[in-house]
Amino acid sequence: MPEIRQATVAEVDGLTRVERDVYVGHAYSSTVLRQFLDIAGPLVIVAVEDGEVIGHTIALPAVSEGEAWLVALAVRGDWRKRGIGRSLSRLVLSRAVDHGYRTIHLTVEPDNQIAIGLYESLGFTTEGKVPDYFGKDEPRLVMRWSAKRSEQLLHAFA
Ligand SMILES: CC(C)(COP(=O)(O)OP(=O)(O)OC[C@H]1O[C@@H](n2cnc3c(N)ncnc32)[C@H](O)[C@@H]1OP(=O)(O)O)[C@@H](O)C(=O)NCCC(=O)NCCS
Repeated sequence: MPEIRQATVAEVDGLTRVERDVYVGHAYSSTVLRQFLDIAGPLVIVAVEDGEVIGHTIALPAVSEGEAWLVALAVRGDWRKRGIGRSLSRLVLSRAVDHGYRTIHLTVEPDNQIAIGLYESLGFTTEGKVPDYFGKDEPRLVMRWSAKRSEQLLHAFA
Protein backbone atom coordinates (compact mmCIF):
# COMPACT_ATOMS: atom_id res chain seq x y z
CA MET A 1 0.00 0.00 0.00
CA PRO A 2 1.42 3.41 -0.89
CA GLU A 3 2.16 6.01 1.76
CA ILE A 4 -0.82 8.34 2.31
CA ARG A 5 0.20 11.70 3.78
CA GLN A 6 0.36 15.46 3.38
CA ALA A 7 2.01 16.64 0.15
CA THR A 8 5.24 18.61 0.13
CA VAL A 9 6.23 21.49 -2.16
CA ALA A 10 8.74 19.13 -3.80
CA GLU A 11 5.79 17.02 -4.97
CA VAL A 12 4.07 19.73 -7.04
CA ASP A 13 5.41 18.21 -10.29
CA GLY A 14 4.11 14.79 -9.24
CA LEU A 15 0.70 16.24 -8.39
CA THR A 16 0.65 18.00 -11.76
CA ARG A 17 1.41 14.75 -13.61
CA VAL A 18 -1.45 12.94 -11.86
CA GLU A 19 -3.80 15.87 -12.60
CA ARG A 20 -2.91 15.73 -16.32
CA ASP A 21 -3.23 11.93 -16.48
CA VAL A 22 -6.59 11.84 -14.72
CA TYR A 23 -8.37 15.12 -15.45
CA VAL A 24 -6.82 16.01 -18.85
CA GLY A 25 -8.78 19.13 -19.95
CA HIS A 26 -9.85 19.91 -16.37
CA ALA A 27 -6.39 19.47 -14.81
CA TYR A 28 -5.04 22.04 -12.37
CA SER A 29 -1.76 23.59 -13.48
CA SER A 30 1.42 23.40 -11.38
CA THR A 31 1.06 27.07 -10.45
CA VAL A 32 -2.45 26.51 -9.09
CA LEU A 33 -1.35 23.37 -7.24
CA ARG A 34 1.58 25.24 -5.71
CA GLN A 35 -0.84 27.86 -4.40
CA PHE A 36 -3.20 25.19 -3.05
CA LEU A 37 -0.29 24.01 -0.88
CA ASP A 38 -0.01 27.46 0.69
CA ILE A 39 -3.77 27.87 1.04
CA ALA A 40 -4.56 24.43 2.47
CA GLY A 41 -1.30 22.48 3.02
CA PRO A 42 -2.61 19.93 5.57
CA LEU A 43 -5.57 19.21 3.30
CA VAL A 44 -3.44 18.40 0.24
CA ILE A 45 -2.97 14.65 0.59
CA VAL A 46 -0.87 12.41 -1.66
CA ALA A 47 -0.48 8.69 -2.21
CA VAL A 48 3.20 7.99 -2.82
CA GLU A 49 4.81 4.78 -4.02
CA ASP A 50 8.60 4.54 -4.48
CA GLY A 51 8.88 8.33 -4.27
CA GLU A 52 6.29 8.88 -7.01
CA VAL A 53 2.91 10.57 -6.55
CA ILE A 54 0.23 8.15 -7.83
CA GLY A 55 -2.84 9.88 -6.43
CA HIS A 56 -4.02 12.85 -4.44
CA THR A 57 -6.93 14.66 -2.94
CA ILE A 58 -7.31 18.34 -2.10
CA ALA A 59 -9.75 20.24 0.11
CA LEU A 60 -9.86 24.03 0.26
CA PRO A 61 -11.42 26.21 2.97
CA ALA A 62 -14.56 28.14 2.01
CA VAL A 63 -15.38 31.65 3.20
CA SER A 64 -18.35 30.28 5.17
CA GLU A 65 -17.07 29.28 8.59
CA GLY A 66 -16.50 25.57 9.10
CA GLU A 67 -16.99 24.74 5.43
CA ALA A 68 -14.58 23.43 2.82
CA TRP A 69 -14.67 22.10 -0.73
CA LEU A 70 -13.10 18.89 -1.93
CA VAL A 71 -11.67 20.08 -5.24
CA ALA A 72 -9.74 17.00 -6.37
CA LEU A 73 -9.65 13.24 -5.88
CA ALA A 74 -7.52 11.40 -8.39
CA VAL A 75 -5.78 8.04 -8.55
CA ARG A 76 -3.61 7.15 -11.54
CA GLY A 77 -5.30 4.57 -13.77
CA ASP A 78 -2.81 1.77 -13.09
CA TRP A 79 -3.27 2.10 -9.31
CA ARG A 80 -7.07 2.06 -9.09
CA LYS A 81 -9.28 -0.45 -7.26
CA ARG A 82 -6.76 -1.02 -4.47
CA GLY A 83 -8.36 1.15 -1.80
CA ILE A 84 -6.20 4.23 -2.46
CA GLY A 85 -9.09 6.55 -3.34
CA ARG A 86 -10.89 5.52 -0.17
CA SER A 87 -7.75 6.00 1.99
CA LEU A 88 -7.09 9.44 0.49
CA SER A 89 -10.72 10.47 1.09
CA ARG A 90 -10.73 9.25 4.69
CA LEU A 91 -7.54 11.08 5.54
CA VAL A 92 -8.61 14.38 3.99
CA LEU A 93 -11.99 14.21 5.77
CA SER A 94 -10.48 13.41 9.16
CA ARG A 95 -7.86 16.16 8.69
CA ALA A 96 -10.61 18.59 7.71
CA VAL A 97 -12.52 17.73 10.90
CA ASP A 98 -9.30 18.16 12.92
CA HIS A 99 -8.97 21.67 11.43
CA GLY A 100 -12.53 22.62 12.37
CA TYR A 101 -14.35 22.00 9.08
CA ARG A 102 -17.74 20.42 9.70
CA THR A 103 -19.25 20.60 6.22
CA ILE A 104 -17.49 19.51 3.03
CA HIS A 105 -18.92 20.13 -0.43
CA LEU A 106 -17.85 18.70 -3.76
CA THR A 107 -19.00 18.39 -7.34
CA VAL A 108 -18.91 15.24 -9.44
CA GLU A 109 -20.03 14.24 -12.93
CA PRO A 110 -23.57 12.80 -12.65
CA ASP A 111 -22.53 9.62 -14.52
CA ASN A 112 -19.38 8.98 -12.47
CA GLN A 113 -20.91 6.07 -10.54
CA ILE A 114 -17.59 4.91 -9.09
CA ALA A 115 -16.85 8.25 -7.45
CA ILE A 116 -20.48 8.82 -6.41
CA GLY A 117 -20.57 5.35 -4.81
CA LEU A 118 -17.36 6.07 -2.94
CA TYR A 119 -18.61 9.45 -1.73
CA GLU A 120 -21.97 8.03 -0.63
CA SER A 121 -20.23 5.24 1.30
CA LEU A 122 -18.30 7.94 3.17
CA GLY A 123 -21.53 9.75 4.09
CA PHE A 124 -21.87 12.35 1.31
CA THR A 125 -25.41 13.08 0.14
CA THR A 126 -26.53 14.78 -3.07
CA GLU A 127 -27.71 18.38 -2.69
CA GLY A 128 -28.68 18.86 -6.31
CA LYS A 129 -27.66 18.79 -9.94
CA VAL A 130 -26.43 21.95 -11.61
CA PRO A 131 -26.75 21.93 -15.42
CA ASP A 132 -23.86 23.58 -17.27
CA TYR A 133 -21.89 23.88 -14.01
CA PHE A 134 -18.57 24.03 -15.87
CA GLY A 135 -20.09 25.43 -19.07
CA LYS A 136 -22.34 23.99 -21.76
CA ASP A 137 -23.03 20.26 -21.37
CA GLU A 138 -20.90 20.04 -18.23
CA PRO A 139 -23.43 19.30 -15.48
CA ARG A 140 -22.30 18.38 -11.98
CA LEU A 141 -23.92 16.88 -8.93
CA VAL A 142 -23.22 18.91 -5.82
CA MET A 143 -22.67 16.68 -2.79
CA ARG A 144 -22.31 17.51 0.86
CA TRP A 145 -20.77 15.77 3.86
CA SER A 146 -21.56 16.73 7.42
CA ALA A 147 -19.17 15.86 10.22
CA LYS A 148 -22.05 15.55 12.67
CA ARG A 149 -23.62 12.73 10.73
CA SER A 150 -20.53 11.09 9.32
CA GLU A 151 -17.82 11.42 11.95
CA GLN A 152 -18.64 8.16 13.70
CA LEU A 153 -18.68 6.33 10.39
CA LEU A 154 -15.34 7.84 9.45
CA HIS A 155 -13.70 6.95 12.74
CA ALA A 156 -15.21 3.47 12.72
CA PHE A 157 -13.33 2.74 9.50
CA ALA A 158 -10.15 4.70 10.27
C1 LIG B 1 -12.71 7.74 -8.16
C2 LIG B 1 -11.27 7.23 -7.92
C3 LIG B 1 -10.48 8.31 -7.20
C4 LIG B 1 -11.35 5.97 -7.05
O1 LIG B 1 -10.02 5.59 -6.76
P1 LIG B 1 -9.63 4.09 -6.38
O2 LIG B 1 -8.30 4.09 -5.75
O3 LIG B 1 -9.83 3.19 -7.56
O4 LIG B 1 -10.77 3.78 -5.31
P2 LIG B 1 -10.80 2.59 -4.26
O5 LIG B 1 -9.97 1.44 -4.75
O6 LIG B 1 -10.56 3.13 -2.92
O7 LIG B 1 -12.31 2.15 -4.42
C5 LIG B 1 -13.35 2.90 -3.87
C6 LIG B 1 -14.64 2.17 -4.12
O8 LIG B 1 -15.01 2.27 -5.49
C7 LIG B 1 -15.20 0.97 -6.06
N1 LIG B 1 -14.60 0.95 -7.38
C8 LIG B 1 -13.41 1.48 -7.72
N2 LIG B 1 -13.20 1.29 -9.03
C9 LIG B 1 -14.29 0.62 -9.49
C10 LIG B 1 -14.67 0.14 -10.77
N3 LIG B 1 -13.90 0.31 -11.86
N4 LIG B 1 -15.87 -0.47 -10.89
C11 LIG B 1 -16.67 -0.65 -9.83
N5 LIG B 1 -16.35 -0.21 -8.57
C12 LIG B 1 -15.19 0.42 -8.43
C13 LIG B 1 -14.44 0.03 -5.18
O9 LIG B 1 -15.02 -1.25 -5.22
C14 LIG B 1 -14.49 0.69 -3.83
O10 LIG B 1 -15.61 0.28 -3.10
P3 LIG B 1 -15.39 -0.76 -1.89
O11 LIG B 1 -14.36 -0.13 -0.96
O12 LIG B 1 -16.75 -0.84 -1.28
O13 LIG B 1 -14.91 -2.02 -2.51
C15 LIG B 1 -10.59 6.86 -9.26
O14 LIG B 1 -11.42 5.96 -9.96
C16 LIG B 1 -10.27 8.05 -10.14
O15 LIG B 1 -9.22 8.68 -10.00
N6 LIG B 1 -11.17 8.36 -11.06
C17 LIG B 1 -10.99 9.48 -11.99
C18 LIG B 1 -11.14 10.82 -11.28
C19 LIG B 1 -12.44 10.92 -10.54
O16 LIG B 1 -13.48 10.43 -11.00
N7 LIG B 1 -12.39 11.57 -9.37
C20 LIG B 1 -13.52 11.75 -8.49
C21 LIG B 1 -14.51 12.71 -8.97
S1 LIG B 1 -13.87 14.31 -9.26
